[in-house]
Amino acid sequence: MRDATTELDTQSGRSSARGLKVLNFARQFPTMFTKWYAAIKVTSDPAYDAVFCELKDTELPLLDIGCGMGVLAFYLSSRGFNQAVVGFDYDDTKIVDAKAVREKFYANAQMHFSAGDARKALPEHLGSVTILDILQYFSAEEMEKLLRQAARCVAPGGKIVIRSGLVDPGWRFRVTTAVDKFARRVGWMQGSPVQYPTVEQFRSVLVEEGLVGTIKPLWGKTPFNNYLISFSRPR
Ligand SMILES: C[S@@+](CC[C@H](N)C(=O)[O-])C[C@H]1O[C@@H](n2cnc3c(N)ncnc32)[C@H](O)[C@@H]1O
Repeated sequence: MRDATTELDTQSGRSSARGLKVLNFARQFPTMFTKWYAAIKVTSDPAYDAVFCELKDTELPLLDIGCGMGVLAFYLSSRGFNQAVVGFDYDDTKIVDAKAVREKFYANAQMHFSAGDARKALPEHLGSVTILDILQYFSAEEMEKLLRQAARCVAPGGKIVIRSGLVDPGWRFRVTTAVDKFARRVGWMQGSPVQYPTVEQFRSVLVEEGLVGTIKPLWGKTPFNNYLISFSRPR
């Protein structure tokens, strides 16, 4: 895995709650479960801070594919990211929650949420793109198609930032798959995981689409085999 586009930096990954009033943030969500979920995500998941660090200096709009109930969009806005954000997810319930939170707490922010299946089509977009934790629900063919479409949404100077579990023989990968299956069993996810990608699947598609970037572990204090894949389109 060690080559020009892969850095093995196991120190990467800080908690995402930096500078955020976690209880106030979590209270914005509608139910006990969603409040708890948002609080856990922003205190223990390094992905949101990592995305903020990747995107804070860009001025381009963001498309968040598989946005769930919009936690990333609200997190970025709370940390002063003022670019327009479009969140897209096929789970209508989560989109309804995201819209309700936006209307109540982020009425002045440039945010829009819409429901749709990323396997069929993406909203028209040119800017940056995020894809956090959804590729395990796609077959290899569906994933390649999505990555190509998403890469084509990246403008010169824009980035695609992906967080995904990657296949490997270690214990972290076994924990990742077990938790994804559990999320399906308790009904939090509509689908079951289909496959987990490899480093090579990301690199070959994104490089072919004219992007350059890195793939790094994003473990933080979590037990998951998650990686941050950050590629940009040169100006
Ligand atoms: C593990 S959740 C991650 C949510 C969000 N990205 C986050 O980090 O909080 C995966 C999300 O992907 C969405 N998803 C899965 N397959 C999808 C598809 N084909 N089209 C759109 N959304 C999808 C699910 O509904 C779910 O909200």
